[in-house]
Amino acid sequence: MVTTERLYSGMQPSADSLQAGNYIGALLPWRRMQAEYDAFFSVVDLHAITVPQDPAELREKTRRTAAQYIAAGIEPSKSTLYVQSHVKAHTELAWILSTITGFGEAGRMTQFKDKSQRFGESATSVGLFTYPVLMAADILLYQTDVVPVGDDQKQHVELTRDLAERFNARFGKTFVVPKPVIAAEAARIYDLQNPTSKMSKSAESHAGVLWLLDDVSVTAKKIMRAVTDSDGVVRYDREAKPGVANLMTIYGALTGSTHAAIEDEFAGRGYGDFKKAVRDAVVAEFEPVRAKALELLDDPAELDRVLAVNAGKAEEVAERTLTDVRDRIGLLRRG
Ligand code: TRP
Repeated sequence: MVTTERLYSGMQPSADSLQAGNYIGALLPWRRMQAEYDAFFSVVDLHAITVPQDPAELREKTRRTAAQYIAAGIEPSKSTLYVQSHVKAHTELAWILSTITGFGEAGRMTQFKDKSQRFGESATSVGLFTYPVLMAADILLYQTDVVPVGDDQKQHVELTRDLAERFNARFGKTFVVPKPVIAAEAARIYDLQNPTSKMSKSAESHAGVLWLLDDVSVTAKKIMRAVTDSDGVVRYDREAKPGVANLMTIYGALTGSTHAAIEDEFAGRGYGDFKKAVRDAVVAEFEPVRAKALELLDDPAELDRVLAVNAGKAEEVAERTLTDVRDRIGLLRRG
């Protein structure tokens, strides 16, 4: 019998709009993969509160993130798309897993080291420290086979594997040991003004960040102003020509063209022509997604209803795993 492998991924609701890096690096591959896998996608609001949040904004960003998943083609009738905090099993399993996680092991997570250094000791919470354990709980609750993530999350998935193996060795086979699937270089998008840094919502200036929900005229202008170089040739060279390479990556991701095909298409033409083509491809891609997301956000009650149905589906799977875990570690069943 062939069983469909399970896939799990998630994104933090940390901005009003996703940016082109999230779209090309995560949403597009997720949309493709949902046809081949039994896919679970969450909006990880409990991860988002490891840094200070405004309550009303968090609620709004959570809805907005979910709306953009759906608008980008994640189908809530096909994939299980839900809000992490709606399924209480996540926090309970995270606690249990924290008891088999080494203090030093958690302390070696480079994302924690970076963030805690940036925030300073007084702004670094225990929640930020145990963030990867909550992520492990997300993944392991669903008996996940594959976890598509960016490079920066690979170490967290490795920790998840270690915890699954450790738990299984100690208490008997309970969890599937998941594999990370790391986004290809072809899906890595850089800042248009600073093309050696990843495109990010936390960039100091937003001039090089393309927001999915921005008016497309703003997006068009940002592309026409993207940093290139002075040699005038459309050629893929990440080291020597990072600006042009980045635009080629964006264009290739949206049109399906290879680097060689793009080089041919623009041979003997200037950057002006090339940028116009990139602009048209991005605008054509973003426009309907933006319209759909805004339409979904116009009816928050219906969006909340869809998310609740999917939380119910997720909960069923999660509770099954959690009941097994509780029994295995010796928690007395409530009579
Ligand atoms: N930590 C991930 C990120 O910032 C988000 C995340 C939380 C996640 N739980 C997950 C990703 C489970 C994959 C699987 O990108």
